[in-house]
Amino acid sequence: MLIGVPREIAAGEKRVATVPDVVEKLAKLGFTVAVQSGAGDAANFADDTYRAAGAQVLPSAADIWSTADIVFKVRPPTPEEVALMREGQTLIGFVWPAQHPELMQQLQAKGATVLAIDCLPRQLSRAQKMDALTSMAGISGYRAVIEAANAFGRFFNGQITAAGKVPPAKVFIAGAGVAGLAAIGTAANLGAIVRANDTRAEVADQVKSLGGEFVKVDYEEEGSGGGGYAKVMSEGFQAAQRAMYAQQAKDADIIITTALIPGKPAPKLITAEMVQTMKPGSVIVDMAAEQGGNCELTVPGEAVVRHGVTIVGYTDLASRLAKQASTLYSTNLLRLTEELCKTKDGVINVNFEDDAIRGLTVVKEGALTWPAPAPKLPAAPAAKPAAAVAAPKASSHGHGPGEPMSAKTLAIVFSVGAVLFALVGAYAPASFLSHFTVFVLACFVGYMVVWNVTPSLHTPLMSVTNAISSIIAIGALVQIAPPLDTAGAANRPNTLILAMAVIALVLTAINMFGGFAVTRRMLAMFRK
Ligand code: NAI
Repeated sequence: MLIGVPREIAAGEKRVATVPDVVEKLAKLGFTVAVQSGAGDAANFADDTYRAAGAQVLPSAADIWSTADIVFKVRPPTPEEVALMREGQTLIGFVWPAQHPELMQQLQAKGATVLAIDCLPRQLSRAQKMDALTSMAGISGYRAVIEAANAFGRFFNGQITAAGKVPPAKVFIAGAGVAGLAAIGTAANLGAIVRANDTRAEVADQVKSLGGEFVKVDYEEEGSGGGGYAKVMSEGFQAAQRAMYAQQAKDADIIITTALIPGKPAPKLITAEMVQTMKPGSVIVDMAAEQGGNCELTVPGEAVVRHGVTIVGYTDLASRLAKQASTLYSTNLLRLTEELCKTKDGVINVNFEDDAIRGLTVVKEGALTWPAPAPKLPAAPAAKPAAAVAAPKASSHGHGPGEPMSAKTLAIVFSVGAVLFALVGAYAPASFLSHFTVFVLACFVGYMVVWNVTPSLHTPLMSVTNAISSIIAIGALVQIAPPLDTAGAANRPNTLILAMAVIALVLTAINMFGGFAVTRRMLAMFRK
């Protein structure tokens, strides 16, 4: 299939949906790629670099839309672009279906299949590699700090110079989601004193780990609305939060606001009065400008000065780091394409059995498939229902998966076990009995350790299994090369034991080295 990449036509948009490195990888999946001439210019990817990577460079957008089977885009298509679309074409990019009902109708009329990267079910861990919202928000959080530094008339870090002492800048960050955390890390790395607040108390540790200080609102209320997102807070909380933000506004040199509840207008956190109390020369970067702004005085898309404070409301922060943003975005699309083309034959399969693909498919062959049903997540550890404890079913004999055994069943299982142990104890040789006891205890301890582990902790569990594997390896080695007897002669093991020991060694080696490889990869994710 031919993947087409037109030049983005939205005013000021500098990103491009595919970079030359990714073109090569798409070719390995069996696709051919055509790029509109000049599509990568604003992101510093010249036509020649695309040609060198194996892409065709076509002169106009019409050439791309009329030939491509799949079109990769960054911004949602304009009505002019939809007019250029071929019947039954596949479109992949940001679409924001809730904000663009007319566009959705036009795409359906074209019989298109549309994969909206903004609709990816981000809660699926498998979807993280395709999560363009996260990559763009991370870049934007970084850029917000750079914009603040640009507008701010002082250093971020404290310095002692011959000319005098310079205090460090104080940065306050409202909302510690993806963009907020990126901003905290960047500002802390530049040497500023960073404080942050979020309605979700669980982010406090993340703020600290990035070098910031979490400032709590003096009001007890759970701020998590599920799925890692916030909820609208009570009036009481909001009043307490406003009081705290008013304090921070007086003290901070720079405020970066990123507070957002999906599907809701941005909460107004910084009032005009708070701006008035800020020191002259202070800066506010309002990342939520596009959703109405977290600051009352923000003008979306512009940097304005109000009461001596520069308020930056740029809505294109990711595009201002076009090369980086295009590279990460096109890698996200590459990972999505890999999921769509598991057979690596250059043909995509929009498979609705796959939760991630289902979630982001908003139109399929002209039919509206948005909003998608919620994806099936791995079962969280179930809270014990109080009623079940209060009123156990008297008639229950067996037990279903996940249900605790009834007392009667438990008694039967234990009685049968006790009889079996008594028989083994009476008839088995003494040497077997000691090994058997250790084996039974090991099974019991292993069961107690492993059984209640939640799915999210399975990876660390692998390190524990690594330790168990080493014990198995030692056991197998002892069987292969047993100790010498008292006369110094080697005890030759019997062939069956030798064969089993070798198999055990091979299997456990796979487990051990596999475990180390996974652990290494996990640690690499946290290294700079
Ligand atoms: P996110 O959902 O990861 O983070 C938002 C955070 O705000 C959450 O941690 C949430 O708990 C917190 N929050 C919600 N209500 C709050 C309140 N009343 N007080 C304090 N915290 C509150 O979102 P993400 O991806 O970090 O994006 C943040 C904002 O930046 C969004 O508005 C997004 O649209 C915007 N954005 C702007 C860009 C630009 O170019 N200006 C580019 C990318 C994102």
